[in-house]
Amino acid sequence: MPLVTTTEMFKKAYEKGYAIGAFNVNNMEIVQGITAACKKLNAPVILQVSSGARKYAHHEYLVKLVEAAVEETGLPIALHLDHGPDFETCKSCIDGGFTSVMIDGSSKPYEENVELTRKVVEYAHAHGVVVEGELGKLAGIEDDVNVSEDDANFTQPEEVEDFVSRTGVDSLAIAIGTSHGAYKFKPGQKPQLRFDILAEVAEKLPGFPIVLHGASSVMPEYVKMINEFGGEMPDAIGIPEEMLRKAAGMAVCKINVDSDIRLAMTASIRKHFAEYPSHFDPRQYLTDARNAIESIVEHKINTVLGCAGQA
Ligand code: G3H
Ligand code: 13P
Ligand code: ZN
Repeated sequence: MPLVTTTEMFKKAYEKGYAIGAFNVNNMEIVQGITAACKKLNAPVILQVSSGARKYAHHEYLVKLVEAAVEETGLPIALHLDHGPDFETCKSCIDGGFTSVMIDGSSKPYEENVELTRKVVEYAHAHGVVVEGELGKLAGIEDDVNVSEDDANFTQPEEVEDFVSRTGVDSLAIAIGTSHGAYKFKPGQKPQLRFDILAEVAEKLPGFPIVLHGASSVMPEYVKMINEFGGEMPDAIGIPEEMLRKAAGMAVCKINVDSDIRLAMTASIRKHFAEYPSHFDPRQYLTDARNAIESIVEHKINTVLGCAGQA
């Protein structure tokens, strides 16, 4: 089976009330860890590549790694550009084998976001590629963009019909209180999401797939492990899993997770070196990292996404 788009995945996910995991990939061990878990649980998956990942690992390497995973697992896998910053980056990914792109015009004024998104959709659809747009601003850090909490704002439900019909996007990322990175809430602050906004968006766009960015739970066991083995992340806090599961049962069809994978890798490597200070063969500690990624993705599929057996 070749790489797929997200069209069929989202249709089924919407109807059955589950979500597809969209995991960021930056190297071979990450691709292998994620897809091993998906293979074990027969789950469809989106592997996504940020501009930072393209800069780090290079486009061709990531495409070939993902193609190898498709060949090895036989699973439905979509290759997606995460937070495409401009038309040129989207075009380069569309021309270079991706099956899905995100154009992130969320920091631009509304009309500019519409214009840019529409231009990407036109090019993408002519090449059989689907497009995710975004309305509303998440707090947090992605690549070089750091959106402060004051600048972040929730999606306005009254804009979504106009945006979707004028741009022709295939899915829409919205801001309901999630945020990027490992520090999503202040210490002592009660984590909460605006399910009222999600419900209103769903009502205005019946059957339309919604995307949640910044959806790592910042798994406490990995934060604890990092702190135990020499790291310093005492205030790291994420989105409670039951909230994500609730969103997956509503209109949310794609849940983006990167930070939890970073934490699992880092925690397991820190632990490895604490236990085996004399090791210097990367295959030894990267095996632990890959196993930790497999285990966290397995956990997400079972606890948050609900997409096991749906490949
Ligand atoms: O939303 C951002 C993702 O976590 C990707 O992060 O831009 O540092 O690769 P990155
Ligand atoms: P996290 O930082 O919560 O993992 O979010 C990742 C993301 O939204 C990628 O686009
Ligand atoms: Zn994101």
